[in-house]
Amino acid sequence: MRKRWSPLSWRSYPVAQQPEYPDMAALASVEQRLKDFPPLVFGEEILSLKQQLARVAEGRAFLLQGGDCAESFAEFHPDTIRDSFRVLLQMAVVLTFAAASPVVKVGRMAGQFGKPRSSPTERQGDLELPSYRGDNVNGIDFTPESRQPDPERLIRAYNQSAATLNLLRAYANGGYADLHKVHRWNLDFVANSPAAERFQDLADRIGEALSFMRACGLGDDAVRELKGTEFFTSHECLLLGFEESLTRQEPGQIGWFDNSAHMLWCGDRTRHPDGAHIEFLRGVENPIAVKIGPTMTPDELLRLIDILNPFDEPGRLTLIGRFGADKIEQHLPALIQAVKADGRRVVWSCDPMHGNTVKSSVGLKTRAFDRMMQEVRQFFAIHRSEGTFAGGIHLELTGQNVTECTGGATAITEDSLHSRYHTHCDPRLNADQSLEMAFQLAELLKNERGHQTKLSAKRQKASA
Ligand code: PEP
Ligand code: CO
Repeated sequence: MRKRWSPLSWRSYPVAQQPEYPDMAALASVEQRLKDFPPLVFGEEILSLKQQLARVAEGRAFLLQGGDCAESFAEFHPDTIRDSFRVLLQMAVVLTFAAASPVVKVGRMAGQFGKPRSSPTERQGDLELPSYRGDNVNGIDFTPESRQPDPERLIRAYNQSAATLNLLRAYANGGYADLHKVHRWNLDFVANSPAAERFQDLADRIGEALSFMRACGLGDDAVRELKGTEFFTSHECLLLGFEESLTRQEPGQIGWFDNSAHMLWCGDRTRHPDGAHIEFLRGVENPIAVKIGPTMTPDELLRLIDILNPFDEPGRLTLIGRFGADKIEQHLPALIQAVKADGRRVVWSCDPMHGNTVKSSVGLKTRAFDRMMQEVRQFFAIHRSEGTFAGGIHLELTGQNVTECTGGATAITEDSLHSRYHTHCDPRLNADQSLEMAFQLAELLKNERGHQTKLSAKRQKASA
């Protein structure tokens, strides 16, 4: 039996992936200061996201989660925020139409700084230094000064998150997210894409639907949803001292909210059931996710679900599979079967990025577009054969025109990766690759819808 939870109960559990600060008193003082900072998000919004995710768990909505692998101080710029937001909106429109159901939009934004690392140190030549752990911990330059963890960086990351969130909120509600505008951007994308023919039909049909709605009097002025959108934030719950400082009780609400983001996830390297990250996450009211890779077993998964969602609250827990195109078939079905047999309600999402990372011939980390699509396709096929709902997608992307992942219609080759490789951690899809993935996903979602319609017709016939 676990002891009573509190925002600091994680401190008596083994905690993986924390930086080694040279001055722990300085860290404690920063954490104390953060406790007096305003929350970034608040309880009501967090609960609203949980409700929307409950719909995803029931198969009545789809989750789109995406953004940088790691936000950075260097890339902090209004255009970067605007372009990532914009590409997520564009993707959401295509997916909403194809799935004919709401798309819950969650950014890996406004707080996604910290990175778990496979090795605590990095060696270059004779020099061995602490690994880069994200701009909220240390600097990316390979010098002893830069790699020294500095707690003041947590304050800077908080401030950057607050400013990012401020702009996102303005965009979401101030007219930028107008559906007609977003659709026009998609038309531009389709017109300029080498895969135009494949996507034109879908784009045209969305345009027709919008014209029809307008003709019926359902224009921007009549329907608030056409003018704005709801947009949520998320990041990996990694630096627990920071998360603890932003975990608050709110008047009129029961329980504790981690007010650093609406949704938090536990990484594949920190999800040990007896570790500090799971202890922390079990006690907050936020919707949470766990990344599950090839080392996850059905028993361990059920144990985690017991700890994180003991009352089987729908929307509380999302499982984000990141197996790799060559491993998903071997691992995902058994996990789904175990969860199904135990009658647990979860959202199943697919991260086709982290299991498909390779070192390119030019020495840079990359991911091939087709490998990622292959994992996504298998994710849908497996859920179809298990009779469960393929509920979401989790992507590392940017609205900038980077060259970090290979492939896509405007084929980026390994040789061209160097030209605009800007990521602070993992390779991201650029705007065109992200939209192409959305259009291909739309085809899968449409097929799913067709399949569900046929199934319910069969059921009706059988019961008639
Ligand atoms: C990530 O999402 O950036 C990440 C590190 O993922 P994972 O924990 O799945 O490796
Ligand atoms: Co990553």
